[in-house]
Amino acid sequence: MRIDTAAGSILCDPWVNPAYFASWFPFPDNSQLDWETLGQVDYLYVSHLHRDHFDAKHLRDFVSKDATVLLPEFPTSEMEDELRALGFTKFLKAPNEQVVELPGGLKIMIQALTSPTDGPIGDSSLWVEYDGVRLLNQNDARPADLSVFAEFGHVHAHLLQFSGAIWYPMVYELPQAAKTAFGKQKRERQFDRTWRYIDDLKADHVFPIAGPPCFLDDALWQFNDIHGDEGNIFPDQSVFLAEYAKVGGTNGIVLLPGSVAEVTTEGCATTHPVPVAEFFANKTAHLEEMRERKRAIIAAEKASWRHPEVDVLGEMKRRIEPLLDESIYLAKGVGGPVRFDLVGTDDAGGETVESIVVDFPGKEVRPYADEKVRYRFRTERALVEHLLHTGEVDWVNSLFLSCRFSAARIGQYNEFVYAFFKCLSEERLQYAEGWYDEHERAVDAEDITIGDWVVQRRCPHLKADLSRFGIVEGDQLTCQLHGWKFDMASGRCLTSVGHKIRAHRADATATQAG
Ligand code: FES
Repeated sequence: MRIDTAAGSILCDPWVNPAYFASWFPFPDNSQLDWETLGQVDYLYVSHLHRDHFDAKHLRDFVSKDATVLLPEFPTSEMEDELRALGFTKFLKAPNEQVVELPGGLKIMIQALTSPTDGPIGDSSLWVEYDGVRLLNQNDARPADLSVFAEFGHVHAHLLQFSGAIWYPMVYELPQAAKTAFGKQKRERQFDRTWRYIDDLKADHVFPIAGPPCFLDDALWQFNDIHGDEGNIFPDQSVFLAEYAKVGGTNGIVLLPGSVAEVTTEGCATTHPVPVAEFFANKTAHLEEMRERKRAIIAAEKASWRHPEVDVLGEMKRRIEPLLDESIYLAKGVGGPVRFDLVGTDDAGGETVESIVVDFPGKEVRPYADEKVRYRFRTERALVEHLLHTGEVDWVNSLFLSCRFSAARIGQYNEFVYAFFKCLSEERLQYAEGWYDEHERAVDAEDITIGDWVVQRRCPHLKADLSRFGIVEGDQLTCQLHGWKFDMASGRCLTSVGHKIRAHRADATATQAG
């Protein structure tokens, strides 16, 4: 979406190229828009790092590097680092939930969500006000409520997700009837959540955005909602309008690529490149045409995945075992082994399966030993080779969202399994561990002893476990994850403003407030 005002333009989440192992494509196809022109903007806003929002290739090739990036206040610097690597140099770090006035009277506010379950450790929404017109691009963020946005006055345009963006339940190895029943429940829950948000904000106009994707690879074609499957979790914008009407909604506006909606305090005038209803009436034909046009792109991507030189077991051990060692909450939360069945082919073209177990209680990665596991994932070996070859730290934002796997689990959904596999870096793991630590111990945060000092366990910066990363020399503590220093006697952070640490001498009874 591009927001144009007299005080400047903001391009939001421009996604064009396929994401997640060439599984997801934007639908309707937006690759034929005039991106040379659309990319000439004053501001860029990327809500989070999921690859259907952060399209590195498109950002690099088409978005003006003179644009100022409106950056959510995320706990790690990954988004800024990635954007800098693409050539962006101007950043406005928006303080969380605070209105920032830009030149010309354009006002923005960004709410960053930072729990390990929000996006790839972070998702966000953008609020914009210009000339008395207010807009909330909630996107696919899931705040507890929308009160922070309502505070600044009536919102005129509310843009939000309504469809599915996950692999559940399609990839699960379940009888078809169960899969349909779970899918139906999920589809209903998605709509209920959307109605709740819409009702919270009571905007004049509601724009269903951020999905669903379409699936153009033959292997995934069945995930498109064109087969009359009531358990399909990817209903499109026309279904949204029909369902919204059933609950009394009359202010929904569907945008196609190239549609323009002019929002004022009085109303909204929208023009479309083609009639919307007619477009969706021919959805299957559009998808089939797209599938033919994108075949070569999918084939080229597939050809890049295999890396037979990668020793998958050895590499998984090397990358994952140190993280298992450090993990307290996530490992405990998973509570059992997780098995990967990697399907390849031998020289004669026959199928091979290598079974590898990530043993959370045992803290090791090893061959499967005929045991009961918590989760089992079956996928192409080439995909995991590719993840290891590229050093991917987030297997949710790559393998799992690709839906190119099947899964079975014993017992309930376990958020810790996916939280762990999105944290395959020291920085992310420490952040997630610290987050759970703080939330499990909100009242009675844990202290540890290092040398002569008793100090809070989690670094005030990004929550590294100081029993592993903290070094005390004299009265000074250094956290080795990013090198921040703290004066223990006063609790003052010597590297950055704020971030006071709670510490006291082991032989003293008085404590410093952290
Ligand atoms: S977590 Fe960054 S310095 Fe401690």
